[in-house]
Amino acid sequence: KEDKLKDVISHAKEYGYVFPSSEIYDGLAAAYDYGQLGAELKNNIKQYWWKSMVQLHENIVGIDASIFMHPTTWKASGHVDAFNDPLIDNKDSKKRYRADVLIEEHIEKYVQKNNKEIEKAKKKFGDAFDEVQFVATNPNVVRNTAKIREIEDRMRETLENNDLEGVYNLIMDLEIVCPISGTKNWTEVRQFNLMFSTELGSVAGDASKIYLRPETAQGIFVNFLNVQKSGRMKVPFGIAQIGKAFRNEIIARQFIFRMREFEQMEMQFFVRPGEELKWYEYWKETRRKWHLALGLGAEKYRFHDHIKLAHYANAAADIEFDFPMGFKELEGIHSRTDFDLKQHEQFSGKKLQYFDPELNQNYIPYVVETSVGLDRLFLAVLSASLKNEVLEDGSERVVLSLPPALAPYKVAVMPLTKKDGLPEKAQEIFNSLRMDFSCQYDEKDSPGKRYRRQDAIGTPYSIMVDHQTLEDNTVTIRDRDTMLQERVAIADLHRVIDQKVNF
Ligand code: GAP
Repeated sequence: KEDKLKDVISHAKEYGYVFPSSEIYDGLAAAYDYGQLGAELKNNIKQYWWKSMVQLHENIVGIDASIFMHPTTWKASGHVDAFNDPLIDNKDSKKRYRADVLIEEHIEKYVQKNNKEIEKAKKKFGDAFDEVQFVATNPNVVRNTAKIREIEDRMRETLENNDLEGVYNLIMDLEIVCPISGTKNWTEVRQFNLMFSTELGSVAGDASKIYLRPETAQGIFVNFLNVQKSGRMKVPFGIAQIGKAFRNEIIARQFIFRMREFEQMEMQFFVRPGEELKWYEYWKETRRKWHLALGLGAEKYRFHDHIKLAHYANAAADIEFDFPMGFKELEGIHSRTDFDLKQHEQFSGKKLQYFDPELNQNYIPYVVETSVGLDRLFLAVLSASLKNEVLEDGSERVVLSLPPALAPYKVAVMPLTKKDGLPEKAQEIFNSLRMDFSCQYDEKDSPGKRYRRQDAIGTPYSIMVDHQTLEDNTVTIRDRDTMLQERVAIADLHRVIDQKVNF
């Protein structure tokens, strides 16, 4: 699994998808730059989302709010007081950990230790091995299994109750039973606010302190009435937005999965009070179908309902994806009640109510939110598409089977050789297609090498101009995934490609 992530990272760098940020200065932890192909793929993902959420929903409109917002926004939203991660430092190694992640790592180690015992027994008993019997007769395993469960319960309880001393004690206990650091020299557990702050203008001090937004959602909430009134929107309706968000993650790693600067694609759907759970189910299903339509494979997804809910939510679910590091959160769908609008009403002193002409009544709408990380979606698409294939003749190829609609280039146009007027003919075809499709003209190296390069960058179709083209105005078009070639009349190219590269 770790190797798979390494493969993805090095492929992304080699072909201009993602570079470490400021690499000539040895990079900056957890910051990445999207390269020439990465920027195209990212744009295509944004467009696909925007089209299906905004363009194809009559009652959803999109906005682009600013990253800086009035500081009171974040008091109202709860981020100033409650957007924290528990943090602990090891004084010897000078390493900093998120306490919850550290505990999870300990538990994982414990589970592995336990599994090793079971594996050992399996080897010893061979076919006669029965796991249930083994657990029942082996006091060590029984004790460890029970202990693991107990630790998990303690973790949940202490974290949920913000019991920082309890979290500290748990880490100390774990360091004894399955040590990670080997030292006992830890600081206490502290709350660490995840918002980045800076000063407005040139004056330092609390009065001018502002934050970089940690989610795009609040830009939508504060504009709820502006959009509703100016757009004459009727509940139920939605406001969508794509934009940067910033979180000072204590440990940001796993490539572009967890960054301090990232992009979100969020949509808040405003509904009548009492109808929120119906819409929550609707959006869960709609977003599920949206992901499956990408064609990355249904087995790559897991849909997981939250049992423990955030204070503002009355239902929540995650869409998890099988990333190279395992199943992790890709998107969240939350029924946020009227919490946010109510808070903003209270803190701003402005009415944020909607007059429902059908009910002849004023109310604060309830909100169902869909929130997906653009960078995580990018990583999902990239990692699920990257494949090492062994071909029939025993040779190998690396292919990036991106969904054609998302691929940076849809078509590569190539002349078979650099003479006999083939480049001119290929250029002519390239020019006739490039207004409608993102195309690349490619005449360097042998045809085989050029095909491999297009496979590696994910171009779904390659057009080869050969001598027959000059005689009958046909070309071959090669499919990246099947590697099959068919002959197509130049006059039909536009239609054929169009059919292939649209969702
Ligand atoms: N408005 C709701 C909200 O922000 P969230 O679960 O905190 O909810 C939503 O974030 C999505 O944003 C996540 O599912 C994830 O895809 C993405 N995300 C959150 N933190 C991230 C980070 N540090 N790096 C990359 N993506 C992140």
